[in-house]
Amino acid sequence: MVGVYFSGTGNTGYCIEKFVHGLDTDADCISIEHPSAVQAMIQSDFIVLAYPVYFSNLPKIMRDFLENNRIVFLGKKVFILSTMGLFSGDGTGCAARLLKKYGAEIVGGLHLKMPDCIGDEKLLKKTKEENRILVKLAEEKIKKAAQAFKSGQAPREGLSFLSHMAGLFGQRLWFSHKTKHYSDKLKISSEKCVGCGVCIKLCPMGNLSVDNQMAVHHNRCTMCYRCICHCPHQAITLLGDTLHEQCRIENYL
Ligand SMILES: Cc1cc2nc3c(=O)[nH]c(=O)nc-3n(C[C@H](O)[C@H](O)[C@H](O)COP(=O)(O)O)c2cc1C
Ligand code: SF4
Ligand code: SF4
Repeated sequence: MVGVYFSGTGNTGYCIEKFVHGLDTDADCISIEHPSAVQAMIQSDFIVLAYPVYFSNLPKIMRDFLENNRIVFLGKKVFILSTMGLFSGDGTGCAARLLKKYGAEIVGGLHLKMPDCIGDEKLLKKTKEENRILVKLAEEKIKKAAQAFKSGQAPREGLSFLSHMAGLFGQRLWFSHKTKHYSDKLKISSEKCVGCGVCIKLCPMGNLSVDNQMAVHHNRCTMCYRCICHCPHQAITLLGDTLHEQCRIENYL
């Protein structure tokens, strides 16, 4: 087996490691940003796939990855894990429907509430302690899910018709335009940015570069919040205008 995932700010990477190692301590978990991810999937009959939900949907970077590698999924068993701040309806179902079309067998699904990574929307913010508790609860849920999977009772969260309807009517119908296209909404403060280049190395989309000692973006943002949460000068925002927190999994452990 192999774990393959996308994680903007670390939540999903943390969760898939715990789940996969609960099943097999020797198995690898590989980000889709790493060149070895596709080869590792080709060599495994069983894939654990993980991603965060964005507006109750697949992140564009993950959707593109699945579409570009559709042929790999023919005949594979896939367990899907998705992380979220609050609610997704059918977070796992979004990939499950695609992968079934590509010939995969979906053997289970797990939804995990984790700290909300949108650091520039005050309404979504919890205290550090509340986030630590969320992570602990997710860890317990992962442990139970791995045990259930081993005893042939894999959870199937997000995979039912009802979940599909909840994701569609709860969020996707109203917000799908936000994830459909590459985004040009990133805001970089000319007062705060010092052109250090940290964000450029981190962006999974190659969306950032430095021009005249200041970061600039190129309309390829898929909203993962990684640069926003790592900028040492808190110079970047996206959905909101003020940064309230830089959300990174290591802050909540
Ligand atoms: C653009 C965007 C949209 C999001 N939409 C949702 C959502 O619809 N429902 C939800 O519960 N959480 C939502 N979240 C929160 C993330 O899914 C959650 O924080 C996730 O665990 C982040 O994972 P990561 O650290 O692996 O990137 C959203 C986050 C972003 C950046
Ligand atoms: S990490 Fe922040 S300060 Fe550094 S170049 Fe990027 S936006 Fe500017
Ligand atoms: S610009 Fe920032 S938020 Fe957008 S994809 Fe790159 S790292 Fe993620």
